[in-house]
Amino acid sequence: MQTVSIGIIGCGNISAAYLRTAQTFRILNVAAVADLDPARAEARAEEFGVPRACSVDDLLADPEIALVVNLTTPQAHTEVNLAALAAGKHVYTEKPLAVTREDGRRVVAAAREAGLRLGCAPGTFLGGGLQTCRKLIDDGAIGRPVACTAFMMSHGHEHWHPDPAYYYQAGAGPMFDMGPYYLTALTTLLGPVTRVAGSAGIQIPERTITSQPKFGETIRVQTPDHVAGTLDFACGAIGTIITTFATWRSQLPRIEIYGTEGTLSVPDPNSLGGPVRLCAANGDAWSDVPLTHGHADGRTMWGIGVADMAHAIVSGRPHRATGEQAYHVLDLMQAFLDSAEAGRHIAIDSTFERPASLPLGLPEDALDD
Ligand SMILES: NC(=O)c1ccc[n+]([C@@H]2O[C@H](COP(=O)([O-])OP(=O)(O)OC[C@H]3O[C@@H](n4cnc5c(N)ncnc54)[C@H](O)[C@@H]3O)[C@@H](O)[C@H]2O)c1
Repeated sequence: MQTVSIGIIGCGNISAAYLRTAQTFRILNVAAVADLDPARAEARAEEFGVPRACSVDDLLADPEIALVVNLTTPQAHTEVNLAALAAGKHVYTEKPLAVTREDGRRVVAAAREAGLRLGCAPGTFLGGGLQTCRKLIDDGAIGRPVACTAFMMSHGHEHWHPDPAYYYQAGAGPMFDMGPYYLTALTTLLGPVTRVAGSAGIQIPERTITSQPKFGETIRVQTPDHVAGTLDFACGAIGTIITTFATWRSQLPRIEIYGTEGTLSVPDPNSLGGPVRLCAANGDAWSDVPLTHGHADGRTMWGIGVADMAHAIVSGRPHRATGEQAYHVLDLMQAFLDSAEAGRHIAIDSTFERPASLPLGLPEDALDD
């Protein structure tokens, strides 16, 4: 199989998961890793047998590297993405695409003008759970979708992440950090959104870190840590969403899609697997639906979108986790905050093409060509 050489920029917490996934997909060859902190890049190179740890500039100048995977913190995404595109590399970036709409538009335009590919996490909609949901909806299992709900209830990340301050700055918070999983799943299943409304607030303004090594330090919350919203989809469905870092336990479902012929219970969009459950119209019992697609376990969780883009580069087909959909998701996330501030609905101008479904029967170490 022809391989695609990738360079990873940003060797923090999530880079280990990407490097593990890269070993699962035969098409990916990690040629180099880089970080502002050279020691972090060296440590990851040694841990995963990557041939080269180098500076960002050296990585971008390496002619072998076709695709840059940007795993820096959200506030650095745009600068790194623009530099990689200027160096002639295809780019796959961690979410969110950018911290502001303006930056998001600049990156999408730079890729288009350069004729390079731009992809953005999450790629979890390529997993067996969400692909099964997509097939059920497209096959009419719940009839015409009329509504959906999405709930990401949590108390934030300061109890586990080694350096959690960035989660509470503009460009993060529960909506920009976790919203991409939920909104990418919903828009993949139901298509684009035409307007939203939101309410948002900073409910717990100071956080104390209880993870190591910054145990006991405090974080001042700079962006809403609770965001509630409604979404009008172009297909006619009406959605309700909450993303929060301000609540303890909840028994709310992650995502449900309600149709004229039944209800679909969608698995955690921050995972690749199930369970997928259906309840028919007039029914009172849920049934577990066997997954129709593979790539449903943690081994391929991170970087499945990168692998899809690598197959697309080799074969010339469109990749699935697109910059356009990521920009639409960014537009929605910002619009919830704008709506909360303005006290009115916000119309959504951006749109995107729903990514093609994955074919059935793919091997676990590859996607389609
Ligand atoms: N940690 C997770 O569980 C997780 C899960 C999913 C997605 N993400 C996303 O992955 C990204 C990274 O998250 P993380 O938790 O690994 O963060 P992190 O802070 O642990 O690591 C980020 C790394 O990027 C480096 N960096 C920052 N700016 C840079 C620049 N301009 N050039 C080169 N290197 C730079 C930092 O030195 C650091 O090593 C974020 O966008 C986050 O939303 C993280």
